[in-house]
Amino acid sequence: MGITFALVLFLVSLVSGDTVPTSRPSISNQYSSTGYEGETMKYSCYLSSLGDPQVRWSWFCGQEQMRSHITYSTTYTYLTFRLSRKYHQKSCYCRATSPSSILDYNRTSSRSIIYVYRE
Ligand SMILES: *[C@@H]1O[C@H](CO)[C@@H](O)[C@H](O)[C@H]1NC(C)=O
Repeated sequence: MGITFALVLFLVSLVSGDTVPTSRPSISNQYSSTGYEGETMKYSCYLSSLGDPQVRWSWFCGQEQMRSHITYSTTYTYLTFRLSRKYHQKSCYCRATSPSSILDYNRTSSRSIIYVYRE
């Protein structure tokens, strides 16, 4: 991003009052997670500030967008799901996207690889 463009964005955001988070979301279980089939896997993602308007969260494991068992609390989002073999070696991550029409923010956490063991 050019310095002039960054400056213009900064000025426009001052006028509109929009803010976006200053970092990427951070995920629990940073590098990998392990569990047995049938166990419940739980992840969380965190941002120190959600910005204004607040970011929208989404969760992915491999190519799949996770749509169930997602909850929110202040600056956290939680994903819980039952482990099955299909998640073996899939990498999970969250994404935070600002709905601001002025500022761009659409960032993913690092990825956490799941290893699913058989009972
Ligand atoms: C955010 O980034 C992802 C991956 O690059 C892209 O698929 C998605 O459309 C983007 N969303 C927005 C709102 O820009």
